[in-house]
Amino acid sequence: MLIFTIDIVLRGFSPEPAKTPSPHNPCPFLRSLAAHGVLNEQADPIDHVADVVVTLGAHADAVAKVQQTPNFVIRLIALIGNGFGPLSVSNTYREGLNIDRLRLGPLYKHGVSSRIIDEKGNIVGEELKHMETFASEKTTKDGCKELGLDIKELAKFMDDNFARAPVATRKSIYRPMMEGEWPSLLKVFGKEDANGRRYLSTSEVRTLFLQSRLPKRIIDRLEGSIAAH
Ligand code: HEM
Repeated sequence: MLIFTIDIVLRGFSPEPAKTPSPHNPCPFLRSLAAHGVLNEQADPIDHVADVVVTLGAHADAVAKVQQTPNFVIRLIALIGNGFGPLSVSNTYREGLNIDRLRLGPLYKHGVSSRIIDEKGNIVGEELKHMETFASEKTTKDGCKELGLDIKELAKFMDDNFARAPVATRKSIYRPMMEGEWPSLLKVFGKEDANGRRYLSTSEVRTLFLQSRLPKRIIDRLEGSIAAH
């Protein structure tokens, strides 16, 4: 099924990031999808957003062992992205998700995040370095070493991102909301180390934030699937 629908879902896909993401889009993953040409930042149909996310998840490493987020959950998240109220939800349902307005919606945590993307959409180098302080050396399956974040390290990173925010800006819901962000990135972009443990390569995270570029192995797999169709 995936193989038959992939070129429809990924219509517009460019292996090189072809567009500069909007400064108003705070999600590094959706920024990369817009940069690679598969999502429209102004209005993208909910079905399409969910299908793209699920398709990319299906191209993650060791997919058989990783429980990917189901399509209907992504659909629900996308539906409330521009607002919780019945009017907003029905507008988003009819017109699509407006990624460019996510900072005005309920998923935006007003700075209680990694802070790698600031409020103006700039990438903050110091915050990338801060993220790396939570990482440790991982050994890849072919014996190379690289810095990475496993699920425990990501949990410490998210705890710290919550704890260092001024008390007045912290809502208790923000920490659970982070579970849908970095751990989701681990599912979709994670790699397995030599012991089969999943981790996020910090160099791939850097590339994602700085260049809005998907990891090369995921691009290769997507291109392979599109060519095979
Ligand atoms: C329709 C689906 C999605 C929507 C509407 C959405 C929306 C958002 C929003 C509004 C933020 C900003 C949160 C903040 O700064 O307070 C965010 C952050 C984030 N999102 Fe997404 N997202 C979606 C899917 C995903 C997926 C599937 C992934 C992973 C593969 C992902 C990874 C992340 C990460 C890692 C952050 C944290 C950025 C940080 O702490 O600096 N998102 N998302």
